[in-house]
Amino acid sequence: MNDRLRRCCLGVLFFTVALYATDPVLEITQPKQQAVVHDEALVTIVVAPQHEGVKSVILTTDTNNTVTLKMHSGQSHYCHTFQLHLGDNNISIAAIRDKKVMKAFTRQIFVTSKVDKAYRYAPKKYEKSFFHTDAQEKVCSHCHDMRVNEIPGVAFEDVSKSNCFGCHKEINFKKYAHAPSINWLCTSCHNGKTGSFNKADANVTKFSVPDPIAPVCLKCHEKKKKLWKGKRFHHEPADSGRCNKCHNPHASNNFNYLRKPAWELCTGCHKDKIDGGHVVKTFGRKMHPTHKVKDPSRKGKELSCVSCHNPHVSNAPFMLQSDSLMSLCSRCHKK
Ligand code: HEC
Ligand code: HEC
Ligand code: HEC
Ligand code: HEC
Ligand code: HEC
Ligand code: HEC
Ligand code: HEC
Ligand code: HEC
Repeated sequence: MNDRLRRCCLGVLFFTVALYATDPVLEITQPKQQAVVHDEALVTIVVAPQHEGVKSVILTTDTNNTVTLKMHSGQSHYCHTFQLHLGDNNISIAAIRDKKVMKAFTRQIFVTSKVDKAYRYAPKKYEKSFFHTDAQEKVCSHCHDMRVNEIPGVAFEDVSKSNCFGCHKEINFKKYAHAPSINWLCTSCHNGKTGSFNKADANVTKFSVPDPIAPVCLKCHEKKKKLWKGKRFHHEPADSGRCNKCHNPHASNNFNYLRKPAWELCTGCHKDKIDGGHVVKTFGRKMHPTHKVKDPSRKGKELSCVSCHNPHVSNAPFMLQSDSLMSLCSRCHKK
């Protein structure tokens, strides 16, 4: 290669890099930068190439989960849903031409948790964001049917017929799924209303759920409503209507759709009760177990906080599972 040609090539190379630096190259349609996602930890990346040179887009999470989206002529947008982890997540998005990166982008997402204190609140730089507004749905509606097509109370025979399924199927991919969710009756809870704790979110999404959610839960769980109302003592998170602090309303790998197994769930908020020292207050004695042994009162189950405490209501103080402190011990310790 003679000098003139080399200079010319370098010139072209320099020119292309400079061009990509100012060119949009790729539009990141979803998600917003520094968005907050809650316990579900699902986030959808939607990209739209703005330059004919873009042949593929590589998405990589900070746990090295990688997906390559191949561009086809005539398709405007490309979509992929990722499962994230609690806390800070960094997703890198690279527009590729001839195996070279034309332009790289990142999206930072924070996943919060209701039961893990360390992740309860997102740092200040992150912002709560909502997706389902007419303006944002407009671009998707070229390819996805965005309308609600559920008949209230009537389960889908073929759930893939729900218009929500295509984009949200992963929400129910767990060991146990809650009836209204697995039947894709999403709007039985996502009724667009808000409650006293999320009044400020009115009209930011079509599918808000009231917070507190209890009135919605108890509409279906009517028997519980009657049973619980009559009890003398009520556990604060249940009493204030925040059923979803402990239960995942959609699905979970834990029985009763608990966000964590019972012992982990309770100790997430009551760390000082881990050692069982509160059960028997005798100086010098061994601590009472609170887990990792069999529960003599519940066949086949392990001892946990709920062996002695009802998570919702009780007629005895301290939410005991028995009618009094006296009768509690004899549930397991027969003389
Ligand atoms: C040009 C057509 C087109 C547009 C516009 C479009 N999508 Fe998609 N989307 C698709 C196709 C095709 C699939 C199926 C891809 C597959 O299954 O591999 C898909 C799949 C998805 C999925 C499921 C991804 C997964 O990994 O399961 C989500 C979520 C999604 N789109 C969201 C959106 C959102 C949000 C918008 C609007 C911001 C949008 N899409 C706009 C064509 C489009
Ligand atoms: C084109 C894809 C698409 C379809 C169809 C869709 N959603 Fe979504 N939805 C999203 C995306 C993207 C988000 C933002 C969270 C994420 O990144 O996954 C979202 C968020 C939500 C949220 C959280 C609140 C908000 O607005 O951000 C709810 C609730 C929800 N969707 C319910 C539904 C229901 C119910 C349906 C069916 C009537 C539905 N979605 C259909 C893509 C879709
Ligand atoms: C039993 C009530 C209930 C049903 C049924 C239900 N949801 Fe939810 N959903 C909630 C509540 C409550 C929240 C608020 C956040 C939380 O507790 O996780 C929520 C949150 C969400 C979110 C946002 C998660 C986030 O990151 O903030 C999405 C998306 C969602 N629901 C989609 C759906 C879809 C799709 C369906 C139908 C398959 C559905 N939901 C059915 C109660 C419900
Ligand atoms: C649209 C009606 C409906 C709503 C709303 C509803 N549930 Fe349910 N739920 C059911 C049905 C039906 C079952 C029984 C089948 C099953 O286990 O999925 C059930 C089962 C459960 C179970 C398993 C234990 C049992 O009694 O079978 C729990 C826990 C639960 N729901 C909690 C909730 C919570 C928390 C909410 C509010 C976030 C809620 N439900 C809202 C209909 C509903
Ligand atoms: C502090 C956490 C917590 C809160 C808040 C909570 N639950 Fe529960 N719930 C549990 C646990 C733990 C279990 C399992 C109990 C067991 O295994 O004995 C459970 C079990 C259930 C069951 C299964 C049947 C039963 O009674 O054991 C239903 C139904 C239920 N909860 C509904 C609700 C509703 C509705 C609300 C809101 C009014 C709510 N829960 C609030 C922790 C909670
Ligand atoms: C989301 C946080 C949270 C979770 C999870 C939680 N609690 Fe609580 N609990 C509270 C709050 C708040 C109070 C009331 C203030 C206090 O006494 O600390 C309370 C009070 C109690 C009390 C004392 C009630 C009284 O009458 O003095 C008991 C017992 C209790 N919780 C047991 C449990 C058990 C068992 C679990 C697991 C099923 C659990 N908690 C899960 C927040 C939580
Ligand atoms: C073997 C039965 C038993 C087990 C297991 C148990 N507790 Fe208790 N708990 C009690 C008794 C009895 C009391 C009332 C004793 C007292 O404080 O006078 C009590 C009181 C409490 C109180 C309220 C009083 C206070 O000191 O604040 C909380 C909160 C509590 N327990 C939480 C838990 C949690 C969380 C677990 C699981 C890690 C758990 N307990 C496991 C029997 C038990
Ligand atoms: C839900 C069942 C349950 C309840 C209720 C319960 N315990 Fe226990 N307790 C156990 C189990 C299980 C062990 C461990 C036995 C073992 O190590 O084999 C234990 C151990 C003990 C020990 C230690 C004894 C030893 O062998 O080292 C004492 C003391 C004790 N419990 C007192 C009480 C008192 C007092 C109460 C009432 C406040 C009570 N327990 C309520 C299940 C229970």
